[in-house]
Amino acid sequence: MDLTNWGDKMPTVVYSKIKNKVKGLLPPQEMAIKEGLFLGKNIMVSAPTASGKTLIAEMAILNALSNGKKAIYIAPMRALISEKYEDFKNDYPDIKTALSMGDYTESDSHLDKYDVIFVSTEKLDSMLRNSHNYMMNVGCIVYDEIHLLVDNDRGPTLEFLIALNRKIFPSAQIIGLSATIANGNDIANWLDCNFVKSDFRPVKLVKKIYLNGELINGKRDEINNVDNPLLNIAIELLKKRKQALVFSQTKKTTMSNALALSEVTGTKLDPEEVSALKRLSDEVLHVLDIPTSQCEKLSEVIKRGVAFHHAGLLNKQRKLVENAFRNGLIKFIVATPTLAMGVNLPANTVIISSVYRYGDFGSEPLPALEIEQMLGRAGRPKYDTEGTAIIIAKNERDEQLIREKYFDGETEPIISKFNNEVAVRKYVLALIDMDIYKSENAVHKFFDELYISEFGIDMEGYIDSALDFLEEHGFIKDERGKLSTTPYGKLVNRLYLDPYTGLLFMSFIEQVKKRDKLNPFAVLHLLFCSSEFKFLRVTQSEFNKYEDESYKLELMTDQNIVEYDRYVSAIKMAHVIDDWINERNERDIEEEYKILPGEFYTMLESLRWLSYSLKEFFKALGARYADISRLSMRVKHGVKDELVPLIAIPEVGRVRARRMYSRGIRSFADAKSADLQLLSSVLGDRIGKKVYMYFHAADPQKKLI
Ligand SMILES: Nc1ncnc2c1ncn2[C@@H]1O[C@H](COP(=O)(O)OP(=O)(O)OP(=O)(O)O)[C@@H](O)[C@H]1O
Ligand SMILES: [Mg+2]
Repeated sequence: MDLTNWGDKMPTVVYSKIKNKVKGLLPPQEMAIKEGLFLGKNIMVSAPTASGKTLIAEMAILNALSNGKKAIYIAPMRALISEKYEDFKNDYPDIKTALSMGDYTESDSHLDKYDVIFVSTEKLDSMLRNSHNYMMNVGCIVYDEIHLLVDNDRGPTLEFLIALNRKIFPSAQIIGLSATIANGNDIANWLDCNFVKSDFRPVKLVKKIYLNGELINGKRDEINNVDNPLLNIAIELLKKRKQALVFSQTKKTTMSNALALSEVTGTKLDPEEVSALKRLSDEVLHVLDIPTSQCEKLSEVIKRGVAFHHAGLLNKQRKLVENAFRNGLIKFIVATPTLAMGVNLPANTVIISSVYRYGDFGSEPLPALEIEQMLGRAGRPKYDTEGTAIIIAKNERDEQLIREKYFDGETEPIISKFNNEVAVRKYVLALIDMDIYKSENAVHKFFDELYISEFGIDMEGYIDSALDFLEEHGFIKDERGKLSTTPYGKLVNRLYLDPYTGLLFMSFIEQVKKRDKLNPFAVLHLLFCSSEFKFLRVTQSEFNKYEDESYKLELMTDQNIVEYDRYVSAIKMAHVIDDWINERNERDIEEEYKILPGEFYTMLESLRWLSYSLKEFFKALGARYADISRLSMRVKHGVKDELVPLIAIPEVGRVRARRMYSRGIRSFADAKSADLQLLSSVLGDRIGKKVYMYFHAADPQKKLI
């Protein structure tokens, strides 16, 4: 329906803000309004990809603002939340909008100056523990991708946060946005929402199965025949000048498929494309000072209009690839399924190269919800009248599975993942640290507010053993039935750690307290032993090697607290970082440990938070923490100890610091007394001058030359 018809059915402020953006409303948007969006009713929407769910949230936010309230927009993935923030800021430039997803350690108390806050689930969860009274007057809270309640890692955090928000902001309108799921009504019931379910798609989606050189979709389209199914399809698409997103299950297969595709695309490019791709390829290659072998591989396939896309890429490379796909330069992206969840990157055609993934029980078919999210990427609302999604079947059995499970079947119900020991332990502590949950009874009651209670799962046992654990290890105390957190309990909670990690840290500090010097390797090993560290990849032969080594090393992580596998695997990770702080580069690290740059930088980021946390424990236990601070600096910048003083100078990173050191500038004082000529000859004119000015800008005696 034309937007003008809605003029009298929506608040004037909302109408005037969206009228330049859209000409009419899409069916799920109309339905949400009819269900009371502007009357402050809670709304849960389950609708396909690109059906316009975001605008529903935006209208609710605008409405809250027009009532003098604030709004929070929550999404579980960083890439997604920053995309939503950028879009919102562009579309509504005069609204005071903030993005918050940084460190778990910053409290962001300045956020009350903004009207809308875009925040990741984890970040908001940690913020709510660190300060209680800011951000009042919240009128609307949006949960995007709320079906991720089912995610093993992110689900419990999201679930806890939603329940907690309902306590803290009881009058805030809730907007839940979800992909098409079987039991949206369960979530709607849980949150007292009016439920909007829609099958509307802005672009028609045609689903096909590829089997034995044919595309099966009612009628059979015969297509070109070479051995590789993916190439068969690609050749057809290239003829029609169409782009495709290809989903492949592992990082390795995304790369091999991209390489195969690049052999057929190369000859189909026009000269301008070739030169633009060459420039892009150079840029991708030189994101790091010294390109790794993955950088080289990516840059090679990009020259021929193809890219792979997975968590091993550096953020900058990922952005370059996504943009080049959007503007048509890159013809095929071969991605792992994470791309289907995160970024808004539709394509004319989507190809799923296999519906199996290697899981705990061998090769398993993917969940229908995941396939649905991938298929849903087909069809670009602004350009296509129809999108095509093709799943490749290896044989007739596959074909039947695809038809029954993915085309005709329903997606899996979204169930709670809160029945997990770690989550319960962590959140019981969080509750007790708040003013409102000071008795066992109050804690139990809070659990009745969680999504899991919709499923009749008994949580009593979990809660009681968490309470016992926390009390036994001194994180909480029970004074005649009144529960409270101890200083260590408070610390663990403020740092957003698993109490188990707190235990691990404390036992380490007890051991090292009396020593003069801390061995950096032992500290790194400890940090990688904490359960917060998700990424530990070792092969069997590596495991054997590090197991042998474990007897020789002087490690100080308490073996009774850590799982044995983790204890051994952490040795590998400690080696990776130990090499890094001895100034080996990303290329060597990739080669020796098979750790890709994107993974490596993600590791560094988690280490930053964990080493900060460890330092706070050292302080709390009255131990000397200077060594930890120094080690954190070294990890952040990848330098030997001797470069730590130089790294504190702005513009100076590991490469420049090393250059200065080898030219005799070895301390902060050396750098300060160096003249411009020396600094320029070591650092180049531009940086040399900047560094010189840093030391002398406020010093009128010293002239530049
Ligand atoms: N009323 C409208 N008229 C025209 N285009 C619209 C309208 N509402 C939304 N759109 C456009 O539709 C596209 C997809 O919308 P949106 O990002 O909200 O998808 P979504 O439903 O959140 O899907 P996903 O499951 O992928 O997150 C966007 O490009 C948006 O600008
Ligand atoms: Mg969305």
